[in-house]
Amino acid sequence: MVAAPADGEDRATEAALRPKDLDGFIGQERVREQLDLVLRAARQRSATADHVLLSGAPGLGKTTLAMIIAAEMEAPLRITSGPAIQHPGELAAVLASLTGGEVLFLDEIHRMSRPAEEMLYLAMEDFRVDIVVGTGLEATAMSLELPPFTLVGATTRAGLLVPPLRDRFGFTAHMEFYEPAELERVIHRSARLLGVEIEPAGATEIAGRSRGTPRISNRLLRRVRDYAQVTADGVVTREIAAAALGVYEVDCRGLDRLDRAVLNALLKLFGGGPVGLATLAVAVGEERDTVEEVAEPFLVREGLLARTPRGRVATPAAWAHLGLAPPPEPSWVAPPGPHRNGDSDRRARPEGTPNGPPP
Ligand SMILES: Nc1ncnc2c1ncn2[C@@H]1O[C@H](COP(=O)(O)OP(=O)(O)O)[C@@H](O)[C@H]1O
Ligand SMILES: [Mg+2]
Repeated sequence: MVAAPADGEDRATEAALRPKDLDGFIGQERVREQLDLVLRAARQRSATADHVLLSGAPGLGKTTLAMIIAAEMEAPLRITSGPAIQHPGELAAVLASLTGGEVLFLDEIHRMSRPAEEMLYLAMEDFRVDIVVGTGLEATAMSLELPPFTLVGATTRAGLLVPPLRDRFGFTAHMEFYEPAELERVIHRSARLLGVEIEPAGATEIAGRSRGTPRISNRLLRRVRDYAQVTADGVVTREIAAAALGVYEVDCRGLDRLDRAVLNALLKLFGGGPVGLATLAVAVGEERDTVEEVAEPFLVREGLLARTPRGRVATPAAWAHLGLAPPPEPSWVAPPGPHRNGDSDRRARPEGTPNGPPP
């Protein structure tokens, strides 16, 4: 992977801004309380903590929590990711090198290959892997005992995990988007660590444009800091924050360029939809996954876009937000026919269906 300079800075500051223990982790009260119990109980029994699955949108604190779990258990942490493990042999190598009590963090666990997934869930349950050594007639099966370890899996798409894998996690934490007040606390904390002077109204302004996501809060804070430093005396006020975020094309609801591009295409090219996800992605020149996992969850949450079995449709709020008049016969009204009651969309697609509606 090529790390652009901004990316490098991003990652370095991100690491510096990570809370180190559960007490320092802001928000997610339920998850924190539940996890605290799991870890305390394990510590009292001097046992290895149960396997933990963290699910939630990017930037909500999954990696941070994985690190906190290891720190709270005073255990070493090994980090790898689904895309890095395509062959079961690669997973066997990682598992075989674990020491007792170690925390193995498997990021993007839904992107592991099926055979690796199978090996993993056997290892999670029996602390054992079966590997085949050699090929053809020389091949022999070997069973390898593993020391007890805690697997922490992170995923943006819990629904994509095969049930036997999902079921072997003793605790699943679903991370929610953050409330603006929680993001304000994140921003004040980060400002303190970065040595940035910020007024409460400045933090409120940034929090309101952060899409419920601490990573975005931290990123916007750094851009606002630059602007405050270059154009003013470095103090982040509400006016400075608003002006800076205007420069970076983050609007008052937190929509960025990609979000607006998606809405624009949906409204102007497709008359508000319904349009398939793949078509929409092509229209904005982005990967399907990026549109589905980065832009859409936020647009849906903001009530600007709806996912229906026939495709993506814009809501009246989307037309209003872009300052456009909706067409006379709004496309978001269900057409007459068997699906008339307008509830059919929800029934046709139960919540949590992994791949979203058919395009
Ligand atoms: N609850 C939180 N309190 C404070 N900062 C947080 C919190 N959650 C996330 N962050 C910050 O947001 C950034 C992204 O978090 P990260 O754990 O990398 O997200 P994820 O792994 O879910 O994409 C980190 O720099 C971290 O400092
Ligand atoms: Mg992460």
